[in-house]
Parts: sequence; structure tokens; C-alpha cells
Amino acid sequence: MSLKSKIVEILKEKNDYVSGEEMSNLLGVSRTAVWKTISRLKEEGYVIEAVTNKGYYLKQSPDLLTEEEISPTLKTRYIGRKIYHYKQVDSTNKEAKKLAIDGAAEGSVVISEEQTAGKGRLGRTWASPYGLGIWMSLILRPQITPVEVSKITLIAALAVSKTIQKVTGLKAEIKWPNDILINKKKVCGILTEMSAEMDKINYIILGIGLNVNTEEFPEEIAHKATSLKIEGKKSYDRKELTQELLFEIENYYRLFTKQETVDKLLEEYKACCVTLNKEVKIIRNGIEYIGKAVGLTENGELLVEKEDGELIHVFSGEVSVRGIDAYV
Ligand code: BTN
Repeated sequence: MSLKSKIVEILKEKNDYVSGEEMSNLLGVSRTAVWKTISRLKEEGYVIEAVTNKGYYLKQSPDLLTEEEISPTLKTRYIGRKIYHYKQVDSTNKEAKKLAIDGAAEGSVVISEEQTAGKGRLGRTWASPYGLGIWMSLILRPQITPVEVSKITLIAALAVSKTIQKVTGLKAEIKWPNDILINKKKVCGILTEMSAEMDKINYIILGIGLNVNTEEFPEEIAHKATSLKIEGKKSYDRKELTQELLFEIENYYRLFTKQETVDKLLEEYKACCVTLNKEVKIIRNGIEYIGKAVGLTENGELLVEKEDGELIHVFSGEVSVRGIDAYV
């Protein structure tokens, strides 16, 4: 943990005045280092009162998803233990990719308050306004083969839906493979990118965009997008959601690496998945198919029975579900 995080942790824990001397003893650094770090924290939006003979008192913390705010009460072992936080980037996936190439550790997370060119699936953009959502990308380095990667997306979708239900009580469903819906509208999207060789993964970037306190969406997507605030009719704490989400991802990721639990995960996924047993329209390489989603394979592919009875495996692409998307 950085000195900044440690100081914030002490101030929050004590919830009272802490002298510069006590802090320097606890942390094994000089009082000047403490004072300098406090000044930096103030610049970043912390309201810290300094009173002679009493010390420092934390009156208010900023609503930012920084390492200082997330890590002191984070319950994970390694996911999110290193957070690269930005006020603004083009895309956290892009930033995470650069860090992964430079050797960033597994579990490192890139979070930005705003994205100017957030990437969605299939070349779309992802609206990511300042401070209203969780726009983050995780760097993972699992020892699996490239065909198994789609399962990582599935467990991320499970982790998101579980987090939403736990923190907000709202019912979150999954549209295969990785859209999270509340009341049939999309609240979260996941974009998984990877660098791999034939039989080995170099790294995976798991990009998650969760609309938390957004009140309005661009006109083109307003009919199909939603946020936790719109659905729950109140604002939610982004820090708590981020911490819970990182915890759930670590949890599911650990289960995933234990082969014997993968079946259980798939069962859990199926229970949340709105696509199964529905009529679907699939657009793959420009060709449209209509059929019924009848199952999931162990690699997380969707099994679709076409109108002519043929069973096809769908790996990716565009799937519309009758009654949920524009497909009617
Ligand atoms: C989708 O189209 O459903 C996927 C959306 C993924 C958006 C997230 S926001 C954080 C990360 N950075 C990006 O540029 N995209 C993903």
C-alpha cells in the first residue's frame, strides 16, 4: 500500500485527531513526509483539518475510485491490490493493455472516472461520463488455453450480477454472453480482450462498464440502457460497489481455476441467464439465423437450435433475444 493509502487508512480508522508524530511513528517515516502526503491528499479533494497540538482530522473523502479509497477496506488477496487510477483516459482497456505489455502484475486494475473513447463490443462506443459509473479494466494472466477465455467473461458477468444483487437488492440478469440487464435494460457491459499465442495466454484485459449513478443516456441508447440509480431510484456508493465487485471477481476466478467447480459455475450462470430457452436471432458474419437457445457448452458457447433443426455453437457475435432487444 502506498503512503497515501496508509495515511488515509489511519485517519479513517481513528476517526479522531492523529498527531503528525504518532503517524510518523506508526508508519516509520519522517513528520515532513507525513505533512507532504497530507498536502497531496488535500489537493486531491480530501478535507483534512490540521489543529496545533492535536494533529490531523479527516472530515471528508472525495468520491473517487482511487487506491487510497478502495484498498484499505478491500477484502481481496490480489485482485485490485494495485490500482492505476485516472481522472480521464481514452479507454481503460487500452491503458491496461499498455501496462500488461510492460509487465503489470495479475490482478492489477485500471480505473478512470471518465473515458473519452470507451470501447464497447463489436466496435461500438461505451458512454462513460465522469464520476457516474465504474469504468475499469483488470489484467489477468490465467494459465489456460485461448479457447477457454470465453469462460472468463462468463464468470465476470456472474460476479457483476451477484454484486448488484448483494449491494442494491435489484435483480440482475445476464444476456449471453456478458450483458447485465435490470428490467430488460442493459446496466453493464463487459469487453474481454486478449493477447495470446496458439496454446498460451500472454494476458487478458477484462473491461467492465457499470452504469451506477447515470440519470440520462444519449438518445440512441436511452430505450435500452439503464443505471442502478434509475432502477433503484437512489444513488449508490461506487466505492462499495467496486470493492464488492473485485471481491466477487476474485472469488469466481479462484473457483474457475479449480476445474471441478466449473460445472457448478455454469449451472449458476444458467440460472441467471435470460437467453436460454428463448427464441433468438443471431447475426454472424453478416448472416442472420433464427432459432432457440437450448443450452450452453462447457466452454460457455451458446447452443442454438435453428428453425431447420440444425444445432449450432455460437461463440460470439450479436445475439438478440425475443422480447428483450429490438427483436420482436
Ligand atoms: C459492451 O459493449 O457491452 C462492452 C462495454 C465495455 C465497457 C468497458 S468500460 C471499461 C472498459 N474500457 C473500455 O474502453 N471498455 C470497457
